[in-house]
Amino acid sequence: MRKDVRILLVGEPKVGKTSLIMSLVGEEFPEEVPLRAEEITIPADVTPERVPTHIVDYSGTQVSANVICIVYAVNNKKSIEKVTGDVHIGFLCVYVGMHRVPLILVGNKSDLVEHSSMETILPIMNQYSEIETCVECSAKNLKNISELFYYAQKAVLHPTGPLYCPEEKE
Ligand code: GTP
Ligand code: MG
Repeated sequence: MRKDVRILLVGEPKVGKTSLIMSLVGEEFPEEVPLRAEEITIPADVTPERVPTHIVDYSGTQVSANVICIVYAVNNKKSIEKVTGDVHIGFLCVYVGMHRVPLILVGNKSDLVEHSSMETILPIMNQYSEIETCVECSAKNLKNISELFYYAQKAVLHPTGPLYCPEEKE
């Protein structure tokens, strides 16, 4: 059985990566957040899958994770478009392909919009098989925050399918 799970959050500036982590840990929305959250470890007995879970706020220096959450803001089209840009999936695919790491698309700030971003996200989901799932959430009103980290844990512990970059297929 797996010893622990390491979850990494990446995404454009200001989409709410740090806020998501602080909301999960503090169970309330922090009005002020540091640039990065310290790496936190959630003890096994308070996680749904009973596995110690580390959550890492991307600092631009290392990509070491069992699952990567690509965060965008649902009210920021550019941050959604960037999901498919070189910096994110393109770059991550190499890592993901080498290490068999699942990706999760996370649409934060759902409190700011009436409409879901799923229409924009579905083509991306279909294009990249390494995307395990997607979730819309809000660090502000704590919607789907625990679910997000549960999906991430689950993606590592119970992967649903083979992970590969479609471009590398014959
Ligand atoms: P960088 O570290 O600069 O890359 O940003 P980040 O992705 O860590 O975002 P951060 O958590 O610093 O949040 C950026 C801004 O968005 C802050 O003003 C937050 O208060 C705000 N914010 C974060 N999450 C939400 C949310 O769910 N809803 C709303 N309305 N605002 C949010
Ligand atoms: Mg931050």
